[in-house]
Amino acid sequence: MQNLQIPHATTISALRTRIRTWREDKLRIGFVPTMGALHDGHISLVRLAKAHCDRVVASIFVNPKQFAAGEDLDTYPRTLIEDAEKLTGAQCDLIYLPTNEIMYPDGYSAIVSLKGPALGLESEARPHFFDGVATVVAKLFNQVRPDMAFFGEKDYQQLLVIKQMVRDLDFPIDILGGETLREKDGLAMSSRNVYLSDTDRARAARLNIILADFAAALEAGQAVAEARRTALGAAEAGFDSVDYVEARCAETLAPLDDGPIRQPARVLAAVRLGSTRLIDNRPAKTPS
Ligand code: PAF
Repeated sequence: MQNLQIPHATTISALRTRIRTWREDKLRIGFVPTMGALHDGHISLVRLAKAHCDRVVASIFVNPKQFAAGEDLDTYPRTLIEDAEKLTGAQCDLIYLPTNEIMYPDGYSAIVSLKGPALGLESEARPHFFDGVATVVAKLFNQVRPDMAFFGEKDYQQLLVIKQMVRDLDFPIDILGGETLREKDGLAMSSRNVYLSDTDRARAARLNIILADFAAALEAGQAVAEARRTALGAAEAGFDSVDYVEARCAETLAPLDDGPIRQPARVLAAVRLGSTRLIDNRPAKTPS
């Protein structure tokens, strides 16, 4: 473990010792789970947590269970020193850095698996993904036992999956989503943007425009199927391949009936540029 200036814990018992006094003092504890390689989007979640809670814990753990064989587990950016500096700057009170052995000791076998919002979209291309996310987040929730936890809307389906898990399994934790932070050209911030070549980086910003146009068409009263066709065509023209471009119910991610939307919707897309997969989403209000 590198020398970190900020308070950190690498075991469950060290974590609990740190947190115990806060709990005894009736302080409200906020939690921001991450896989590190922090960008301003993560830091905005820490600031949101600071605004709602007395103490904030951030975890950094690159969770092997949410990567399939052949995905980027080994190359996922690991930038602990820079991450710790950013968290210090955002007044994070404690970093939790569990190891693989702590999270998944020999003989580990539990998996948390959801249906509902976990079905479709991301699960089509990454069927392992939400089992891995729900499992690690459930464990982290039990280890940290926060009052509130914060997740970015950039991973909108993940946010709904966590909300569903908290409801279904009775975790006494309030979940709050933080708005997606974007680069100047509109590209949603993501730890994986560093994988993009210069040419692909320039093309990547198009995804935000396609989704903004898709949402605007729905808000103007265009029928779902027609607006989706246009967005899909633009995505197919702009990217190497398209996993999905969809409009869904904002609350459940259930498919929408065709015609103008009659409930708040979310437009979501996943596309590929070379070996990099980009996801993004935007809200669409019902036409006034
Ligand atoms: O969004 C992420 O970075 C991860 O999926 C999470 C929630 C930290 C679980 O590993």
